[in-house]
Amino acid sequence: MNNFQFYSPTEFVFGRDTENECGKYVKKHGGTKVLVHYGSGSAVRSGLLDRVTKSLEAAGIGYVTLGGVKPNPRDTKVYEGIELCRRENVDFIVSVGGGSVIDSSKAIALGTVYDGDFWDFYIGRATPEKALPVGTVLTIAAAGSEGSGDSVITKEEGGIKRGTGSDLIRPRFSIMDPQLTCTLPPYQTACGATDIMAHVFERYFTNTKDVEMTDRLCEAVLLTMIKETPRVIADPNDYQARANIMWAGTVAHTNIVGVGREQDWNSHGIEHELSGLYDCAHGAGLAVIMPAWMEFVHKHDVMRFAEAAVRVWGCQMDFADPEKTALEGIKRFRTFLHDIGMPINFAELGAREEDIPTLVEKLGLGDGRTGGFVKLSSEDVAEIYHIAAHASL
Ligand code: NZQ
Ligand code: ZN
Repeated sequence: MNNFQFYSPTEFVFGRDTENECGKYVKKHGGTKVLVHYGSGSAVRSGLLDRVTKSLEAAGIGYVTLGGVKPNPRDTKVYEGIELCRRENVDFIVSVGGGSVIDSSKAIALGTVYDGDFWDFYIGRATPEKALPVGTVLTIAAAGSEGSGDSVITKEEGGIKRGTGSDLIRPRFSIMDPQLTCTLPPYQTACGATDIMAHVFERYFTNTKDVEMTDRLCEAVLLTMIKETPRVIADPNDYQARANIMWAGTVAHTNIVGVGREQDWNSHGIEHELSGLYDCAHGAGLAVIMPAWMEFVHKHDVMRFAEAAVRVWGCQMDFADPEKTALEGIKRFRTFLHDIGMPINFAELGAREEDIPTLVEKLGLGDGRTGGFVKLSSEDVAEIYHIAAHASL
């Protein structure tokens, strides 16, 4: 196990009707004037926005609102938010939504108190030194942004999707009422489930040995997702299944399942080019990319993939031919994704094979390599896109 530092200061407030306490938590964490940031309408339609603003009023906290965040949040909305926060002297941001709204809030939190262009943080031109505090009312179990220090934004011009990370933008509190996720359409639910599993796999495939504790936590999250996801697809109002998935989504991405080891993250980098170019859901892009990545890299550590196949996918170990077991595990993963309604190849996602050179170029590796488990070149990435393009069950 490697040395590590684990910092997860977010106060998680979990359970039925907890959104009504939002005002209380803003006050507790020092907010006096709030930007309530939300998405394209689900929070308005469900009455959630109303309940959140009422709880702010009850706590005597002033607020302004800014909606309209789209999935794969854009820089243009961030600039609008920064201007509003400055004009209105906002000192706390409450995100009501999923990863997209939370990431947009985090970008606004960084940009409001920065003299330059907030995009500097996303292209490595500047390192965050301060930020407004952010709190969240989560409406979808997926990105894990409610407990992470990350934010991913897409530059409207050119569809360039990039991320930044800092402990400064870890939410001060996250309110998590599983009931709020019951209005999610099955497709969005499945996209979220895929993302949660991907966050674990990015950490599970590691070259670091003897990280048994972290391995077992990873497996617990994956087994939970394999059990609970079909339950919510079958019955969107299954509170207990929604609750387990919601907590799994957070545990998957605070990094508690990744400490003490090298991590990979190539599938995310490769996927971000798809959602950047086609504006598809991040989880759907991962469903297409992650099994393809696994097929491409499995020879690097066949026993690791065989172990995952046995422990996570319930395969029988073939001691004479562990590669067979490894490949069977990957196949079960892809079948699971298909069964919950995810695309598994380019055609089903709406991506085009002829765009592969563009996708590779946009990733910008040049002659370099990227990744923690297997270091990939541009040619390797192109090959993974080709595998993904033609994947079938
Ligand atoms: O905008 P509204 O109307 O709210 O609709 C949203 C959106 O269309 C809808 N939705 C959310 N909650 C709902 C609901 N519809 C009905 N009922 C509800 N309760 O779902 C759609 C997707 O929402 P979005 O916020 O985009 O989903 P998600 O949480 O998957 O976030 C995806 C974004 O997060 C980034 C992704 O790249 C993507 O841009 N990521 C952020 C990470 C982080 N900050 O740590 C890590 C991830 O790996 C990921 O890259
Ligand atoms: Zn993700």
